[in-house]
Amino acid sequence: MVQGRHILLIIGGGIAAFKALDLIRRLRERGARVTPVMTRAAHEFVTPLSVSALAGTKVFSELFDLTAESEMGHIELSRAADLVVVAPATADLMAKMAGGQADDLASTVLMATDKRVLIAPAMNVRMWLHPACQRNLAVLQSDGILTVGPNDGDMACGEHGPGRMSEPLEIVAAISSALAGGPLDGRHVLVTSGPTHEPIDPVRYIANRSSGAQGAALAAALLALGARVTFVTGPARVAPPLGAEVVRVETAQQMLEAVQSALPADVAVFAAAVGDWRVAQPSAQKLKKTGSGLPQLEFHENPDILATVAQMTEGRPGLVVGFAAETETVTEHAKSKRARKGCDWIVANDVSPETGIMGGTENAVTLITAEGVEDWPRMGKDAVAQRLAQRIAGALAH
Ligand code: C5P
Repeated sequence: MVQGRHILLIIGGGIAAFKALDLIRRLRERGARVTPVMTRAAHEFVTPLSVSALAGTKVFSELFDLTAESEMGHIELSRAADLVVVAPATADLMAKMAGGQADDLASTVLMATDKRVLIAPAMNVRMWLHPACQRNLAVLQSDGILTVGPNDGDMACGEHGPGRMSEPLEIVAAISSALAGGPLDGRHVLVTSGPTHEPIDPVRYIANRSSGAQGAALAAALLALGARVTFVTGPARVAPPLGAEVVRVETAQQMLEAVQSALPADVAVFAAAVGDWRVAQPSAQKLKKTGSGLPQLEFHENPDILATVAQMTEGRPGLVVGFAAETETVTEHAKSKRARKGCDWIVANDVSPETGIMGGTENAVTLITAEGVEDWPRMGKDAVAQRLAQRIAGALAH
């Protein structure tokens, strides 16, 4: 349902921009409010006058337009709508989004928004299939950006294949489902991700090789199913997905505190690679080479965040999922970990260096539940995340 909802529509500069006019009409006849933003290139394909007449409101185009800024600043513009839709999303606009550029109003709004973003790509088939474009698409999807299309068919340039923008009614349907959320609508999911840094002194710390990729992909997949996601992350290399409530921490103890204050949650997924030990007394000053022997570090065990939450007697999330990164007898270790920690599911994977999984883009996991053991084929971390998110949604539906 789009009735009464507010869509910020960014129109990119491509031949499919003419379909944006029909999209505005279709959205408005269904009771939606549309605020249009046009890129400079879009002006070459449709006139601001037509867009404005159909939207029944002013068109925003320039980043440094003082009149527009005094009416509504670009940051406010990016936040005021319920959903941001980019149609057509050209190769150039997708590249800008993937690279985080903000050099005009459209790209700045896309960087500044805290709302979900749906893109309808449209471009020549060769451009769509180009590795750079597919790379950008993968980045955008892992950032939690939703996509509709493109379709296969004849193109304005005379070629045939994928690249045609979805039809306005298909985009309206994608907008409705993005606004309606999904099977996890109204659910709160807590995800931990990334490594922890345990300080030794003000400049040194103990860390691990986790990139945070699997946790970020999982949060994006959960968001795409409509969940409200609190994402508690250590200092990870992969950025958190758009739309999650992000809590940044460094140490295991801080992660535990952040997790406890984010509860209650319907589901908690512990994808973080938490340091097992911390230095008992991190030095207030940088440790020096004294010439009289090596520094002696005393370790304390860190709290087990997963076990703490899984064993809560009151307010325990309905589904608690842990990960188990192992380098040998993966399933056996993971099964006993599930029992020892008291979680419902364990997602186990082999992180031996030869698998290239830790810090890589693929994962081969075994899902261990009360019902048994499932080996999933090796696939991209995004695909693992989507499958796991679907399983979580399925489990909550029962
Ligand atoms: O015991 P191990 O570190 O192999 O357990 C892995 C699982 O436990 C992961 O889900 C991880 O996020 C979680 N964990 C935790 N707190 C710790 C150690 C691990 O939440 N201190």
